[in-house]
Amino acid sequence: VAAEKGGYEHFMLKEIHEQPRALKDTLLGRLTDYGVELQEVDLTAAEVNQFHKVYIVACGTASHAGLVGKNLIERWARMPVEVDIASEFRYRRPLIDEHTLVVVISQSGETADTLAALREAHRLGARVVAVTNVVGSSVAREADDVIYTWAGPEIAVASTKAYTTQLLGMVLLGLYLAEAKGTMPAEKSQALIAAVRELPRQAQEVLDQQEVIKKLAQSFIAVEDTFFIGRGLDWAVAMEGALKLKEISYIHAEAYAAGELKHGTLALITEETPVIGLATQRGVYEKTISNIKEVKARDAKVIGLTFAGNKDMHKSVDQVVYLPETLDELAPILTVIPLQLLAYYVSVARGCDVDKPRNLAKSVTVE
Ligand code: G6P
Repeated sequence: VAAEKGGYEHFMLKEIHEQPRALKDTLLGRLTDYGVELQEVDLTAAEVNQFHKVYIVACGTASHAGLVGKNLIERWARMPVEVDIASEFRYRRPLIDEHTLVVVISQSGETADTLAALREAHRLGARVVAVTNVVGSSVAREADDVIYTWAGPEIAVASTKAYTTQLLGMVLLGLYLAEAKGTMPAEKSQALIAAVRELPRQAQEVLDQQEVIKKLAQSFIAVEDTFFIGRGLDWAVAMEGALKLKEISYIHAEAYAAGELKHGTLALITEETPVIGLATQRGVYEKTISNIKEVKARDAKVIGLTFAGNKDMHKSVDQVVYLPETLDELAPILTVIPLQLLAYYVSVARGCDVDKPRNLAKSVTVE
């Protein structure tokens, strides 16, 4: 087993460190200078144009990747997107038909809830694209088209490299749909492609800050509640960061839209509740900083995450973790890495079973 962990103490840490490689593999052969090539997706532009909406369905971490997918597809392809948790979707009597593109996301491709949702989507006549990590899995076999994430086997229950490659899958699908719809100017897609190519190297740069995160984690050992706040795509990443911490360290963590705190949750913020403030989205940067100041004013200790160029953030928080600059749309792929490391080190420090947290399974095959 020690050999399988490649010298790392836990599978989770090994898998976190595999992300630059996993991202690179997931991009392999799929980028041209001005667009994407998804050979496994067999949709003509005419077919894409007859979809009235997109419905993304998944569970757990994969559903958090779906939230990022919604934002990107709506932004780039101008198609309305709904995201649903698979166990809810099925019993909602969802409004889907042959003019709906259903996207199911599943690392294992065997999650019973997701598989049931896929079958329901087919029964209602939808076209189903799967984003999955396991070749030949049930989801891969039953979907009409498959976008494989090439993360490689993921052993730790808490998903890390599967999530970041799912995010990349959302980027690729978003670009693909935008191209078919003709909704993205050529300069924009070229800029995106160039920025996507940098991501594996930039992910490594984030990993190189591991010691900083390890130190930060020490102040979470005795914490009972914590909040992850952000706006837009940062909010989606906040949900994944909070889930990681809950899953493996058993600390209660809540993700909140930064602008919504003042409408209720701010009542829970005290000096006992550390807050992770994500501020990568340039369009709402100032607004997010004001929200962070609101929690500082309640004496919360705040750790900020932002791009390296935002030199002023340190004035509003206790400590800043800086990320390499990328486009706003791609930020989630880098932002989540410090949050994965944070959850990992807090779990280790609290003596939890990192790779096999209590009550959880890697793949849940009951509904
Ligand atoms: C389980 C795992 C989660 C995972 C979810 C969906 O609950 O513990 O980490 O996100 O299933 O799994 P899937 O394989 O469908 O992505």
